Amino acid sequence: VFAHLTRAPEDPILGVTVAYNKDPSPIKLNLGVGAYRTEEGKPLVLDVVRRVEQQLLNDVSRNKEYIPIVGLADFNKLSAKLIFGADSPAIQENRVTTVQGLSGTGSLRVGGEFLAKHYHQRIIYLPQPTWGNHPKIFTLAGLTVKTYRYYAPATRGLDFEGLLEDLGSASSGSVVLLHACAHNPTGVDPTLEQWEQIRQLIRSKSLLPFFDSAYQGFASGSLDADAQPIRLFVADGGELLAAQSYAKNMGLYGERVGALSIVSKSADVASLVESQLKLVIRPMYSSPPIHGASIVAAILKDRDLFNDWTIELKAMADRIISMRQQLFDALRARGTPGDWSHIIKQIGMFTFTGLNSEQVSFMTKEYHIYLTSDGRISMAGLSTKTVSHLADAIHAAVTR
Ligand code: LMR
Repeated sequence: VFAHLTRAPEDPILGVTVAYNKDPSPIKLNLGVGAYRTEEGKPLVLDVVRRVEQQLLNDVSRNKEYIPIVGLADFNKLSAKLIFGADSPAIQENRVTTVQGLSGTGSLRVGGEFLAKHYHQRIIYLPQPTWGNHPKIFTLAGLTVKTYRYYAPATRGLDFEGLLEDLGSASSGSVVLLHACAHNPTGVDPTLEQWEQIRQLIRSKSLLPFFDSAYQGFASGSLDADAQPIRLFVADGGELLAAQSYAKNMGLYGERVGALSIVSKSADVASLVESQLKLVIRPMYSSPPIHGASIVAAILKDRDLFNDWTIELKAMADRIISMRQQLFDALRARGTPGDWSHIIKQIGMFTFTGLNSEQVSFMTKEYHIYLTSDGRISMAGLSTKTVSHLADAIHAAVTR
């Protein structure tokens, strides 16, 4: 009955890993998916995560019962504090509803489904470009996707005027998806002053901000600094949605652990929101998984474990920042034509190189280097040992 099917294409990001895995070359390098690697090119399980897992394993009082539809209460409370700040007035006034989600993607999807069902405006504006999964998530949730200008190829920086113009002409009430920090794929973020202008515009047009926070702590190495833009919006007392992921900042990729928070105008509304979120979640996956959220809750609630986590998080962020400098230096040493300063200016996991899809294919074919066709490089996949190989490939791609 399915013989009529055509073969679906691989995912533009995860498909890069599929192609990489098929390549027998010993020099192959995967800079596609945004997943942290050590200097040895290996996936990293944080030491603090290993220790907590051991504690959980030894605790015979624990069971594997279903957890509530909205997830673990501790996890939700602590996640809201992490993103909005412990002293957030919205939390103190009980205006925040937080539910556990299946990492960033699942949290965005639940938020999208909730908006499609209960919000009066079905339009969502996404930055151009954005993470490839965003348009699919929100379209399938039932929203109409539009875009706002974000990236200026000429400067490899922010198109701030274009952004203000497009959001300024958005229909009143539209949802606006904002990358909280370390914009994926460009690595280009507004400054805090620009965020303040964006906030004023969004509030004056009654647009509804929906933050995607996939990299808190990963951009600057500081959890608080990376949450500043969201906290600006919470401080004005207005409404917003925020999706959080613990994939990158705790290295819990495969555990699928994240959260969706909705900030309302009153505690009464927040509790109505929670009641309706349950109706969205139950028919989708019933209730979320227990393991990853238990790890996160244990780390967030214990001061020593929390401190140990921030040290490991900062080490990951610092290694990425140092890779940026090393790649920039290597291109300069080769006299590679072009201004590569954006490599050190952009932040977070990715560099948006400006290489075109033909140059990317060349690098894959000749140098066995795998990256997405838009020229995005996951800096976290690079190491001191592999940087010269990448610089050689970029040099050859742009000079041929
Ligand atoms: C990425 O952009 O590489 C990551 O967010 C992983 C993913 O799921 O696409």
